[in-house]
Amino acid sequence: MRILSGVQSSGRLHLGNYYGAIREFVRMQDEGEALYFIANLHALNSVKDPKVARALTFETACAFIALGVDPTRSTLFRQSDIPEITELYWILGTLVPLPDLANAHSYKEKTERGQEAHLGLFAYPVLMAADILLYDSDVVPVGHDQKQHLELTRDWAGKFNLAFAPGYDPQRPEKKPGVFKLPKERIRDESAKVPGRDGEKMSKTYNNTIDLFGTDAEVKKQVMSVKTDSTAKDAPKPTEGQPLYQLLKLVLPHDEFANVERDWSLGGKGYGDFKTRLLEGYHAAFDAPRKRYAELMADPAEVERTLKAGAERARGYAAPVIKRVREAVGL
Ligand code: ADP
Ligand code: TRP
Repeated sequence: MRILSGVQSSGRLHLGNYYGAIREFVRMQDEGEALYFIANLHALNSVKDPKVARALTFETACAFIALGVDPTRSTLFRQSDIPEITELYWILGTLVPLPDLANAHSYKEKTERGQEAHLGLFAYPVLMAADILLYDSDVVPVGHDQKQHLELTRDWAGKFNLAFAPGYDPQRPEKKPGVFKLPKERIRDESAKVPGRDGEKMSKTYNNTIDLFGTDAEVKKQVMSVKTDSTAKDAPKPTEGQPLYQLLKLVLPHDEFANVERDWSLGGKGYGDFKTRLLEGYHAAFDAPRKRYAELMADPAEVERTLKAGAERARGYAAPVIKRVREAVGL
């Protein structure tokens, strides 16, 4: 089984990215051949400063490794190191129906939020389809927001197979395989949605994050500003709609959370106490990766070597696919 996923290098990583995505990448790396990449071509849609683009690509790579993506067990690479990606992107684009893109919700949502409507944003699902199809992926772990992109990818791959693989039968692909393998998504459980400090979904766009690699002082400030209500110190605390409670549940080990739960329902402890416990739990969970991250950040040459080696392996997976594609369309 070949597993593929990517994360855009478009901002600082936060607890939502870890519990919602990277933790699963780490878990899945022994379930099959895992390919994970830093989607830095996608990130150009929103990052317009070259220094920032370069720094975020590098930081995201360090973060993946520090959090447990092991480059000896997975193929970790940078999207921009794979020239076949933009070639496949173009070829796919020649048969993608425009209404599919016009109806894609990510485009609508981003332009409604004020992002400029340029071709890169419009065609983003085509680049994502190229990412997925280029390596003959079987399974793509993603969040719920990406489900539509997987559906489009399968539609276009099927359409391509019908157009360019004579004898291809979508009902019986085992008889005559198409040019592309049709991948399946693995959608994360919605309970994996990590709340931000304000109780909305944690997201860099909402400015409500707790960062994975901020300084101690920044993280402390973020934890201390998690929204709470005005329940008195002595009273039992409500659990509904409380980001602090949900974050404690995610970050603390089971037995420690059981203690927190007891204090939460008994009353007698103020929200300040619980925030301190969250901060301690954060450090217990992330100090080792944070240390590793600092070491990697200080050794860019080593990280670069890792990424280059990953890209070479990824291009090895891509080579037979792009060959099939070129032959199929007549290049
Ligand atoms: P952001 O919302 O901060 O821009 P991205 O969209 O770049 O984050 O998300 C990168 C990955 O992290 C995606 O796979 C996404 O599903 C996951 N992710 C981001 N925020 C959360 C969250 N609050 N809860 C669960 N998963 C999240
Ligand atoms: N669009 C994805 C996101 O914003 C990132 C991504 C790009 C991706 N290419 C991919 C995810 C291919 C899975 C497979 O989260």
